[in-house]
Amino acid sequence: MKRAGVHVGVGGGVAVPIARLVGLAGRVGPAALVALAGLLAATSAAPAVASERSASSDVRLAQSDEAARHVAEEIARAKAAGFGRTTPLERGRRIFHATGGCTCHTNFPGEGDGAPPLAGGRALETPFGVYYSTNITPDRETGIGGWQTGDFVRAMREGLSPSGEHYFPVFPYTSFTGLSDADLADLKAYLDSLPAVRRANRAPEAWPPFSWRFVIAGWKVLNFTSARIESDPARDAAWNRGRYLVEAAAHCGECHTPRTSSGGLDRTMWLAGSKDGPEGELAPNITPDEKTGIGEWSINDLVWYLETGLKPDGDDTQGLMSEVIRHGYANLSREDREAIAGYLLSQPPIANRVRGGD
Ligand code: HEC
Repeated sequence: MKRAGVHVGVGGGVAVPIARLVGLAGRVGPAALVALAGLLAATSAAPAVASERSASSDVRLAQSDEAARHVAEEIARAKAAGFGRTTPLERGRRIFHATGGCTCHTNFPGEGDGAPPLAGGRALETPFGVYYSTNITPDRETGIGGWQTGDFVRAMREGLSPSGEHYFPVFPYTSFTGLSDADLADLKAYLDSLPAVRRANRAPEAWPPFSWRFVIAGWKVLNFTSARIESDPARDAAWNRGRYLVEAAAHCGECHTPRTSSGGLDRTMWLAGSKDGPEGELAPNITPDEKTGIGEWSINDLVWYLETGLKPDGDDTQGLMSEVIRHGYANLSREDREAIAGYLLSQPPIANRVRGGD
């Protein structure tokens, strides 16, 4: 969706004077504190997921031949799915695929000025303006090659650059904040192993106040809590893995959840579809509501969809979803896709029709 109007170019380097931030936080006032308290209450009950399930934790004492065979099969499945792999690069690639292949950072040839993978410059249109994704190749000058792992963790988790600037929330740190230390370190190691590309970042064309980085400090008070996803002991490992993938790594909610007027995710409508997804795309309701969501899809339908982009009715997938599948989710293990599907279909259905342009 192209938005007409004045595009005010603002340099990326607006410093954040502390006094101004404090003033802003003061002005945001009680409503923000109430919202923050609500967010904290909503997330404090959430528990962490070990990012790698250890195959041996599934090994129970085998009392009979049948049980022993079952255990052997489980271990073989776990190995095939990559559990127990130890190199950081392999684990990092798995997380990279779980994010959808960081595909927003690639400006594919044919889309204006095409560029090599992950070199940034892709225009992401939002209701608040046009933001350009950044170069995340290991180039030291224009990419993230000069970053320490700690810088990367802080960016993904707190939405802060190495020099302490706030990132615009078009970068979905609101979801990536849930990623574990180990997964973030592995992901950085994997990104560092890819070819470096020299390509300078581009400033956003957004309207004030959404073009001012210091405003993001106030936005964060209202809309962001830095918190890991903890595992829920009442649920099994697959459900917890699914939750970790959907809510943190694969950030499904960033596109599929509608936003409030301040641009935060409307958590009362979690995954219930958005008319204003990135690039102005409509992202359908993916809660298991039978009429307006994917209540009629089976786990296998979803697993197949996340691998091929083909819907149960034979339709294919367009836009960003097809990219995150092709460059990411399709390369996950079947177990991971099953975990995503199982978790998604366990969510409460929400009736919300966003299809067909209404
Ligand atoms: C970058 C944005 C983005 C992300 C991330 C994303 N989606 Fe999507 N998704 C979309 C868009 C846009 C569509 C509509 C595609 C189309 O029209 O063909 C879509 C379509 C779908 C559909 C088809 C629904 C239907 O009724 O046709 C499903 C299912 C789905 N997504 C599930 C997921 C899951 C599960 C995740 C996370 C693992 C996810 N999506 C992550 C943007 C996204």
